[in-house]
Amino acid sequence: MVYHFYTNSGVRARRKLAILRFSARGTSASHLSSRASVFPISAFRRPSRWARIFPIAFFSFSKSQTFRISLKLLLTGICGFVGSTLAREIRKQHPSWDLIGIDNFCRAGSELNRTLIEKELQIEFYRGDIRSQSDIDALPAADFVIDCAANPTVLAGVDGKTSARQLVEHNLLGTVNLLDYCARHSAGFILLSTSRVYSIAGLTSFETVLKQSSDSDAPLGVPFDRYTPSNPESYPQGFSDNGIEETFSCEPPSSLYGTTKTASELLALEYGSMNEFPVWINRCSVMGGAGQFAHPAQGIFGFWIHSFRESRPVKYIGFDGLGHQVRDGFHPRDLLPILEKQIAEPAASTKPRITNLGGGLKNSASLAELTAWCKSRFPSSKTEIPAPETKPEVRKFDLPWYVSDNSRAKKAWGWTPQTSLPELCEEIAKFAEENPDWLAMTK
Ligand SMILES: NC(=O)c1ccc[n+]([C@@H]2O[C@H](COP(=O)([O-])OP(=O)(O)OC[C@H]3O[C@@H](n4cnc5c(N)ncnc54)[C@H](O)[C@@H]3O)[C@@H](O)[C@H]2O)c1
Repeated sequence: MVYHFYTNSGVRARRKLAILRFSARGTSASHLSSRASVFPISAFRRPSRWARIFPIAFFSFSKSQTFRISLKLLLTGICGFVGSTLAREIRKQHPSWDLIGIDNFCRAGSELNRTLIEKELQIEFYRGDIRSQSDIDALPAADFVIDCAANPTVLAGVDGKTSARQLVEHNLLGTVNLLDYCARHSAGFILLSTSRVYSIAGLTSFETVLKQSSDSDAPLGVPFDRYTPSNPESYPQGFSDNGIEETFSCEPPSSLYGTTKTASELLALEYGSMNEFPVWINRCSVMGGAGQFAHPAQGIFGFWIHSFRESRPVKYIGFDGLGHQVRDGFHPRDLLPILEKQIAEPAASTKPRITNLGGGLKNSASLAELTAWCKSRFPSSKTEIPAPETKPEVRKFDLPWYVSDNSRAKKAWGWTPQTSLPELCEEIAKFAEENPDWLAMTK
């Protein structure tokens, strides 16, 4: 076994300190894929002189070796769509990692994942609320927190279902409690932030044209039928034909949801710097996949596909009322490769702390394109979308075109989304067939 150290100076001092053989004490490495080759060890979990000098130590090993090295991760919101998808993927790729999860089941449908988490994946589960300091105090120490707990909709706080105060408590006070936990246990913190941090004024300031084609050259394999940015002179700072970069303005308004995430990002960076624990922020665009508790304001790919499968009515909202607005999408299991690298990164890393993660242009679609895909996937669906009689009202949070520019993720972390948009949609479609009442069950 090759033993590597990473130093606090941020310079990777890759020294072959020893070639060690580990005897079988538990998990067999044959369960691991070749990707599962780097693990921090728990001996360095507690703050110590060693931990300060060498914040994380890594072992790499060949598949033939047998070992037991534990990294303890706390996943908040573990019964949610992203939390449960990640938990499943981590169990598959890293069976020796210890996982702890917390969820308060405030998201309708999340309780359906409790059996998966506790029984199937054998994860130490705590029913608790991250808004409550005492619930957090009851959790055992972990090496890293991956924060997937939030009220993640742009309509939260304004749709009458949750109050603004509740949203701020879930998304911001919850973050503060977790940051205190990280400071107390010298744990690293990874925030799943959102592309909704970006300024609405900026995202509606550039010009678009309607692009249509008769060829199946769009990412979903149906004809292009979408808004496309035009006139580079109208592009704001941090914007290009490839999408929105991290330097794009976060000036409010961005939605209460977006602003609670921006505030969480700032506090996380401040706490991390003050208490010397690593913080990584991933600004995710739309995610989708099987098992998402989809509704129109969050999980649009899932909502649309389930609606067509169930022959439910849907309608285009805003702009020309014909569904030409564009979003990019990716699968949350594709988060794991970047999370692995962020966990393994030395504390004093000079890599950018904030990274956009999205499907990018290659994995983007307009609602009209998604409709065409759904019609061909579910030819007997009775879903019809009425043409608008008058020009629809454009709501405050509606955006004509949002695509994340992933250049930084690729350059800094070698990250690109692995699941294509057609694969993602097909996964949802199959799940929709197997779970015919999903929308009602998770409403
Ligand atoms: N799904 C997306 O498209 C998307 C896009 C960008 C960012 N994100 C971010 O990813 C994270 C996960 O999103 P998701 O799609 O899985 O949402 P989700 O609603 O499916 O899951 C969130 C989970 O957190 C739990 N939760 C909420 N508040 C809690 C609290 N106070 N204490 C304990 N548990 C709590 C909920 O019960 C739910 O199980 C969120 O932070 C969200 O902002 C998601």
